[in-house]
This record gives sequence, structure tokens and C-alpha cells, in this order.
Amino acid sequence: TYALSEITADEEIRYQTGLTELDRVLGGGAVHGSFVLVGGEPGIGKSTILLQLCGEVSKTKNVLYVTGEESVRQIKLRAVRLNVPEDNISLVAESDVDEICGLIESMKPDLVVIDSIQTMRCTDISSSSGTVSQVKESSARFLNVAKTLEIPTFIVGHVNKDGAIAGPKVMEHIVDTVLYFEGDKTLPYRVLRAVKNRYGSTNEIGMFDMTGRGLAQIENPSQVMLEGRPIGISGTCVACVMEGTRPVLSEIQALATKTSFPSPRRTASGFDYNRMYLLLAVLEKRAGVHLSGSDAYVNVAGGIKVNEPALDLGIVMALVSSFKNRSVDDKTIIFGEVGLAGEVRAVSQPQLRVNEAVKLGFETCILPQVCLKSIRKTDKINIIGVRNVSEAMKLI
Ligand code: TYD
Ligand code: MG
Repeated sequence: TYALSEITADEEIRYQTGLTELDRVLGGGAVHGSFVLVGGEPGIGKSTILLQLCGEVSKTKNVLYVTGEESVRQIKLRAVRLNVPEDNISLVAESDVDEICGLIESMKPDLVVIDSIQTMRCTDISSSSGTVSQVKESSARFLNVAKTLEIPTFIVGHVNKDGAIAGPKVMEHIVDTVLYFEGDKTLPYRVLRAVKNRYGSTNEIGMFDMTGRGLAQIENPSQVMLEGRPIGISGTCVACVMEGTRPVLSEIQALATKTSFPSPRRTASGFDYNRMYLLLAVLEKRAGVHLSGSDAYVNVAGGIKVNEPALDLGIVMALVSSFKNRSVDDKTIIFGEVGLAGEVRAVSQPQLRVNEAVKLGFETCILPQVCLKSIRKTDKINIIGVRNVSEAMKLI
């Protein structure tokens, strides 16, 4: 045993990978000896981002890319397409875990990528690759090598639509960091999200655009999220949510129409639909907006999933706007949490959100009254504090 005081608490040794969006999600770069799981549905872009990572890191360091899925020729073709520098990257098509560990020990690269855990196999275990026992044991062996040699190791794990069967879930507790790569495959945007991180916060997201030449980093998400939004139409408004430390403006669209079904239809995409039921109930009871005879569809445009109550007021305003057929001014942004009494409650970081709105040329901001005291006075934007949903509705 050690006395706590005897143990040195040096900062972990990190290096910047060169992909700033990835570094942000990792908590400021790759940590020596860290074991990182990169999960996501097949085809979402895991191999692409990791090959790009290898390309960046290989500018100054040696990298080993192990593939159990594709031939080295396929990787080469992708590397050409992504314009990845070719020196300092070693490729191997292998799925025997012990062989690979031996290779890592003899090569001692500065970064290892294993693509994917489902294809790896310990020969002394009889079950086939991809089974729980293989996935567990293979990860344990890779982990051991990563920790002893202090090599940052990225492991790909495929996840199916409905969570993971025998997949990466079984290794989440042994790895240091779990990143999920998400996005609607029909849209070009991809979001990299940390769901577990022993070396940083799990709030940060990285945003990418899948182009014909690989993933491009999106440095200004708000601008992308608002691209092509309709102007002067009822049922849409712009909200501001925090993604980690970064404010992101996104468009909310709502459609409320007279129902022709026995029970009205409700769908919510991009956020929790239970939240929508709650907001509809608040509107009905506290603001006298009777949507019980209407179908209601709400969509947070842009394909990202939002999980922040600050979105509430925007959803309410978009619904009311559609219901009353009156448009919200298109230079206005809206944020605030809505409580069961119809009150508009404080949200975190109002100043950052207002700054983002100013940056993107918005002229009015509707926010919780209680947040006014934490915002600097400015003549760049007109700030309106509201106490409850009824007050907010009068602004449409
Ligand atoms: P891939 O990284 O192979 O996905 P995963 O490893 O998660 O299964 O990415 C597959 C998709 O990405 C594929 O449908 C093609 C697309 N893609 C591009 O659009 N541009 C590119 O430059 C590359 C390499 C892939
Ligand atoms: Mg792949």
C-alpha cells in the first residue's frame, strides 16, 4: 500500500493529436497509456476518423494501424482518398490478439489503432470472435500492453441501432474513455461524444462534416446548424443549447395541425419526446393553448440530439408560433427551461449564449428574467427577460 501523500500527482502526459475536435472531446489531447473505445454504428465513419488521426499523429510520431476488417490495400486506398501522409504509418491485417500484442511490444509505436474489437480473437479461447468472452479477453490483453508500454490505444467497437449486443458495452468499464460517433447517416454531420472519460469532462462534443475527402472539422457549429433555415415562416425559431463549454444555436421546427386521428399524433426528433408531452401539458394548463385537438410534430433541425432543458422555451415558442400561425422574428434567439407551473427558469451560462447570438448577428434574445442579473448590459442585442410562458407567448 501507499500513503496518499507519497504518490506523486503529476499531470497525465498528453499530446495534441492535431485533430482539434477530437482533442477537445478527449479532454485536451491523447493521454499516454490511455485506452479509448470508439463506438458507433457500422458505416458512420469510425475507420475514417481514426485513419485521419493516424495521419495527423504520424507527422511527428510512429503509428500502428491494425485492421481485422479490411485488407491493407483497402486502407491504402482510403489513405490516398483522405490525403493521409504515408510515412510513419505501419499497417497490419491481423486478428490474432497475441500476435498483435507481440508486434506492439517489438515496434513500440506512439499510437495504436485496433479496428475493430469484434474481429479480434484470442486463439486459446474457443468461442468465435465478436462473442462476449472474446471481446472481454481481447480488450484485457490490449489494455495490458497499452498500460505497460504507455501507448495511447484507440479501439473501434461497432454498435447496432438498438444499443449493443455483446458489443462494446461489455468493455466500457475497463476502458479509460468511451467515445461515441453518432449522426444521421443521411446527413453529413457527425458528432463525437464522450460518454465516459477518466481524463476529462464528458460534456464536450466534436463536430464533423463527412465530405468526399474525409471528415472535416466544424469549427463554427452554430453557423452550420442554421444553414438554409426558412425565414418568415411560422413554427420555427432559433434556440441556444450548451454542448459542453460551447454554445450552439440550433433551429427548432414545429408543426401543429388539426388532427384527423382519434388521439392526436405527436413526434419529437432530436430531443426527448417525453419532454414534449410535458411542455404540451404546460401549454394547455398554464397558458390556455389547447393543443389537445392538434397533431404536434417537433424537430430540432441539423441531426444533433439535444438533451438540455434550456431548449424548452424554444420548443414552446415554435409550437405556439405554428398553432397561431404567426412567425417568430428570424433575428431572435430563445432559451430557458420551462417548469410545470409554466414558469421560465434559469439556465446555465446565459452570457455565453448571448455572446454567441451576437456573434451570429441576432438582434433579440428572449431569456429567463432571472438570468438578466448575470448578463452584462450591451447595445449589441436587445435582451428581453420573461417570467413565464404566457409572457413569452405575447412576444410572438
Ligand atoms: P467508415 O469510416 O468506413 O465507417 P465505419 O468504420 O464506422 O464502419 O466510413 C464509411 C462511410 O463514410 C462510407 O459510407 C463512405 C463514407 N466516406 C465518405 O463519405 N468520405 C470519405 O472520404 C470516406 C473515407 C468515407
Ligand atoms: Mg470501419
